[in-house]
Amino acid sequence: MNKEDLKNKDIPSHVAIIMDGNGRWAKQKGEDRVFGHMNGVNAIRNVLEAAIDLGVEYLTLYAFSTENWDRPKEEVDALMNLLVKTLLEEIEELKSNGVRLNVIGNLDLLPLKAQDLLKKSLSITEKNTKINLTLALSYSARWEIANAAKKIAQKVVQGTIDVEDIDETLFSNELTTKGMPDPQLLIRTSGELRISNFLVWQLAYAEFYFTDELWPDFNQNSFFKAIANYQCRERRFGKISEQI
Ligand code: IPE
Ligand code: IPE
Ligand code: MG
Repeated sequence: MNKEDLKNKDIPSHVAIIMDGNGRWAKQKGEDRVFGHMNGVNAIRNVLEAAIDLGVEYLTLYAFSTENWDRPKEEVDALMNLLVKTLLEEIEELKSNGVRLNVIGNLDLLPLKAQDLLKKSLSITEKNTKINLTLALSYSARWEIANAAKKIAQKVVQGTIDVEDIDETLFSNELTTKGMPDPQLLIRTSGELRISNFLVWQLAYAEFYFTDELWPDFNQNSFFKAIANYQCRERRFGKISEQI
């Protein structure tokens, strides 16, 4: 597949990815699960570059779910340390490559060191405009939706809005993804066919692309293949072919 051909067609403005399979990748190599997570960082670097290359405006990566807090403590600690280490190592590169970093999720649950560093990283990259890279950390869609409902209820109680004002747009504006287009494409690696509490509201009309590749093996070519596959889909949004 030719990258230049891809560029001349419809490039999704927002791609979301469930980066799965790090543990299995490491196990296949007789290594510890954490080794898989470390190699997963390389895949992120490659995919980010490919996304910039194609002109994708928003890339949203599921890095750690609310449910992942229930993993063995050693693995959770290792993941948090890896987050801090990676941010420290990559932030200058992200800055000079035009990447605007963003995070979504219940960040209060993260170690303070990670919270501080994330805050700094966000401000260091806030003027960048080439691509919006969102990390979903300690994120779950049901948490996000329940939170949005709570915020809307508070506004009704305070009298800032009427119940009648509540519609899809208002609801979307209370989500952590406020201001972003919905992802047109969701990619999940490692052969699992589920969304595991990721962007439930936002993925309502997304195209899903599943691949058996494990996340650390996912490279630029894998990403281009996913985009090529997306470009062959007919998105009907309830209409019929002839109307498209
Ligand atoms: C995805 O890989 C990374 C995180 C969830 C943090 P996994 O760690 O889920 O890898 P598998 O699914 O066990 O292979
Ligand atoms: C989903 O992967 C979360 C992330 C990729 C961060 P999991 O490996 O945690 O998902 P399940 O538990 O298999 O559904
Ligand atoms: Mg997994």
